[in-house]
Amino acid sequence: KNYVSIGLLGLGTVGSGVVQLIKNHQEDLIHQVGCEVRVKSILVRDVEKDRDIQIGQTYLTTDANEVLQDPEIDIVVEVIGGVEEAREHIIQALEAKKHVVTANKDLIALHGPELQKKAIENNCDLFFEASVAGGVPILRGLSEGLSSDRIQKLMGIVNGTTNYILTKMDEDGLSYETALKEAQDLGFAEADPTADVEGLDAARKMAILARLAFHTNVELEDVEVSGISNVSVEDLNYGQKLGLKMKLIGHAHIDNQQLEVSVQPTFLAKSHPLAAVKNEYNAVYVNGEAVGETMFYGPGAGSLPTATAVMADVVAVVKNMRLGVNGKSVVAPRFERVLKTPDQ
Ligand code: NDP
Ligand code: HSE
Repeated sequence: KNYVSIGLLGLGTVGSGVVQLIKNHQEDLIHQVGCEVRVKSILVRDVEKDRDIQIGQTYLTTDANEVLQDPEIDIVVEVIGGVEEAREHIIQALEAKKHVVTANKDLIALHGPELQKKAIENNCDLFFEASVAGGVPILRGLSEGLSSDRIQKLMGIVNGTTNYILTKMDEDGLSYETALKEAQDLGFAEADPTADVEGLDAARKMAILARLAFHTNVELEDVEVSGISNVSVEDLNYGQKLGLKMKLIGHAHIDNQQLEVSVQPTFLAKSHPLAAVKNEYNAVYVNGEAVGETMFYGPGAGSLPTATAVMADVVAVVKNMRLGVNGKSVVAPRFERVLKTPDQ
């Protein structure tokens, strides 16, 4: 066949962006991969739901097998979220020799190494660029752009919802609840925003980033976490008087031979580059031994920005299909690092 067929799991904020991007940028995609990219079917919870998106010939289903067992589908794109169901779908897809692209950091933080092993066993690709920092190509930045370097330190804003809330509380005087509601309405927040505001979403992303940057296994429980749910407008006003901005900062660095990974609300000087990152934008500062200081910056959440990261993975899968090298791109962890645990 002269096209690539995608089975999409989920048609919410990210899934709709993927459908829209494929439609609007089809010519660019053909130029990149040499053939048309089509979405054949989409798994949803409710096929009757009113949706703003035009899906053309694509059909909706509530039966995962119609997507996962369809021999015509080459690539499964998982954007339903959650852990167990998504994990089962991805395993089923890989066992059916379908390549997988996911935006699911909860799943990758918890089960990434196991799923990558499964992908390699089946000669399939498993890519997850959208799982960290939405539209910012930070995973490829680390695993390709900086692959020859030794990373010393990572520091970043990796959750759009909390950055949106802190910005709106600080600059517009919005209450925490109103700012959170806005972030939810804009599609930035998780289905249950507790993971955003308690820092867990950022912790999952820091675990994924630290694995790539420091070439080692990092478990979620190795990350020290606190969120922003107790931060008040008064705290931010106090910071303003001192020339400081509060940000939810993820940090990963080697200290005394130990890798330390944390997520914490942190006051930064207004002149600090991360203090200028506003709303749902994310930024990750990476300090490498050879390259020195680099910054990756852009929209960390939202429909089309996240869809660009998903589609970058799809393009990478199709290029690998053409070369016949799928399932070969994962590099095993190099080091057994000692991790400083939160209670140390
Ligand atoms: P949404 O809640 O907007 O959409 C979820 C979609 O999945 C809906 O279409 C829903 O169906 C479908 N769905 C959910 N559960 C099931 C199920 N059990 N069976 C069948 N269909 C199901 O989520 P998002 O698009 O915001 O997020 C998707 C993933 O992308 C998550 O892993 C999230 O963490 C990640 N992500 C999100 C970003 C964002 O900005 N929103 C950015 C980066 C990553 P229905 O429409 O019928 O309800
Ligand atoms: N809820 C997440 C955030 C979505 O606000 O950053 C992007 O991963």
